[in-house]
Amino acid sequence: MEKVKKWFPDVEKIWFNGKLVKWEEANIHVLSHGVAYGSGVFEGLRCYNTIYGPRTFRVKEHIERWRDSAKQLRMTIPYSDEELIEAINNTIIENDLEACYIRPLAFFGYHSLGVDPLDCPVDVVIATWPWEDYLGSAAKSKGVRCCFSPWIRVHSQMVPSAAKATGLYIGSMLARVDAKDKGFDEAIMLDGVGNVAEACTENIFVVKDGVIATPGLDSSILPGITRKSIIELAKELGYTVEIRSIARGEIYSANEVFLTGSAAEIKPVREVDARKIGSGEPGPITKHLISEFSNIVRGKNSKYLKWLDSVINVKPVT
Ligand SMILES: Cc1ncc(COP(=O)(O)O)c(C=O)c1O
Repeated sequence: MEKVKKWFPDVEKIWFNGKLVKWEEANIHVLSHGVAYGSGVFEGLRCYNTIYGPRTFRVKEHIERWRDSAKQLRMTIPYSDEELIEAINNTIIENDLEACYIRPLAFFGYHSLGVDPLDCPVDVVIATWPWEDYLGSAAKSKGVRCCFSPWIRVHSQMVPSAAKATGLYIGSMLARVDAKDKGFDEAIMLDGVGNVAEACTENIFVVKDGVIATPGLDSSILPGITRKSIIELAKELGYTVEIRSIARGEIYSANEVFLTGSAAEIKPVREVDARKIGSGEPGPITKHLISEFSNIVRGKNSKYLKWLDSVINVKPVT
């Protein structure tokens, strides 16, 4: 299968069920359970080119969330944490990447097509590729334009909404496409009771009068690892951070709004539903957090080296 070079430049290998294989050989049967029912769980994390060389960001937490998601689907990922981390590192090394996005994915594979997947094997994939400019090249400096989505974020009584499960992303997909159709960069989704949940693939924060707030897990959010990092960092920098329900109107009247995610990192929001956020430019607290976070992921803040793991000194396996 030919590679779409624009999307996946400079990558030749994928880790697939225990082996590094050529990109075009990482194939599955069309009747795999995960294809028919979206019964997969995945992660997204980054490797940064730090002053110490390539380092993955909070890889152990990502593996832990991957396993938590799998547990919600009655799935067991058939590799140890050490094997998965080694597989991530080897995929980065084998593709000769220094900074990249990493996509671990596990799904119920090919065996039977009843909705009950428990007899199906679990296929496991780790892919890496360079992925800059998430939400557009100007997003970091100028901020993104968002709208509220008519689609609400999946509620935890319907499905395990805290699981990063492939099928759940139909909601994000519909909301993002709808936002783009309307000329926006990203959509913000409400939860089942009408409070703010999160964006399609990012958590959301608001700033009002110097206080930072973000919805809690009871607002059907994905427990973002960047969100957790920003909460810790902001507190350490002396800001007050509230984890609470956020009404839609608070977004419109906020001084600053920003989104966080492994792919998006920290992105200021400059407009929501044709209302300028603050001055319409990235605000001072957002800029402060972006600057501190970019030092951290470059390895320049010794306090946070604990969030970075070396990818070198691992012997590639084939
Ligand atoms: C729905 C959703 N919310 C939030 C996030 C942010 O999570 P993280 O910071 O762990 O990437 C993501 C990205 O993984 C996501 O897909």
